[in-house]
Amino acid sequence: MGARTLAPRPPWKGRRIVVGVSGGIAAYKSVQLARDLTRLGAEVDVLMTRSATEFVGPISFEGVTGRPALTSLWSAQGVARHVGVARDADLLIVAPATADLLARAAGGRADDLLTTVLITVRCPVLMAPAMNHRMWTHPQTTLNASHCREALGYELLGPTTGPLAVGEGEGEGRMVEVEEIVERAGVLLGQDENWAGRRVVITSGPTREPLDPVRFLGNRSSGRMGFALAREAALLGARVTVVSGPTALPDPSGVEVRRVETAREMLAATEALIPEADVAIYAAAVADYRPGQTRERKTRKEETGHRMAVELTENPDIARETRSLRPQSCVAVGFALETEELRERASRKLESKGFHLIVANPAGEHDAGFESDTNRVTLLDRDGGEESLPLMTKAEVAREVLARVTAWLSARDASPTQGRDAS
Ligand code: C5P
Repeated sequence: MGARTLAPRPPWKGRRIVVGVSGGIAAYKSVQLARDLTRLGAEVDVLMTRSATEFVGPISFEGVTGRPALTSLWSAQGVARHVGVARDADLLIVAPATADLLARAAGGRADDLLTTVLITVRCPVLMAPAMNHRMWTHPQTTLNASHCREALGYELLGPTTGPLAVGEGEGEGRMVEVEEIVERAGVLLGQDENWAGRRVVITSGPTREPLDPVRFLGNRSSGRMGFALAREAALLGARVTVVSGPTALPDPSGVEVRRVETAREMLAATEALIPEADVAIYAAAVADYRPGQTRERKTRKEETGHRMAVELTENPDIARETRSLRPQSCVAVGFALETEELRERASRKLESKGFHLIVANPAGEHDAGFESDTNRVTLLDRDGGEESLPLMTKAEVAREVLARVTAWLSARDASPTQGRDAS
């Protein structure tokens, strides 16, 4: 993670995270974990088992969190703070969770500060086991891990396979990377009851319409806006599938991505998903036309001469074609990228494509629209609301858009309706 991405922000900002550290070699990585969570804006209390202090000093944690690491129940500080720490925690992360820690947690022991806090908290618990692979695969550890998961509701992340401590070779037992723990912590902290478990379908990116095996008609869409929406929805706890045209971007984490090329492929993939969607977001820049014929062989200049005419056929409109497949309660969001008459055109599309909300953005500005990391948008909704937002990153725009969808999701829960939108 770069310094920029560690700036304080939701869902970490102002949240209270307890990081429990037990005694394994991976404990050194937990210093970075505590540091990253602190830089993201969380208030981090570190609790160390006695054996953890054999691997890392409490002062290292104090140095990165600005708060004293607690090591013992039997100190004035330990007694005074453990109840408060447990009561106020939004999330408890145990990293690394050793075989012994898992055993004590599974047994409901409260024989040190960390296990005492474990059975006092009522917040989500995320554990990152790390140990020798023989210990991890021991039937007793398997039992303890599944008891923690199934009976106690703790979430276990990893371990993964890779190099273990020196002399222990490779195997399953390595703690997951700190980035993965932070990522998952973000999801647990950001879970929004309006979004948790919701199915979100997003079309994203450009489409490519082949002229021949090597050439295509396309557009400048980078897919950044669609992927930002996918990522933010996943962080709220939604189950997100993106139907993405060709993009150079890596898949956003926690999101299923179905890659397609043409508008017709995008339509087919979207049609299959939309009947189950709670939220449909049409962020793709779909090519309006495709070559009427795709040549089987590469077109050569000798064959075409100085001029070449390509007849284009209209592509299906995915938002329009899937409108009748959307459940009646599905909240639909569209985009409009226009070079002129932005407001009027966007408002017509809002109506004709059956959107609840349309995100209108100007084309041809260097800091907004295609290929930019930032965007300047106006949000128009079907209740007549209109709001122009200042220049912001696409992640911020995504959060603004989803915040407006939340209002419809919660209203819909207040008066649930069934069936399809046949309008
Ligand atoms: O291209 P247009 O400005 O009409 O796009 C408006 C909205 O309709 C966007 O949300 C876009 O993703 C969607 N759309 C679509 N299929 C098309 C064209 C547009 O789903 N063929």
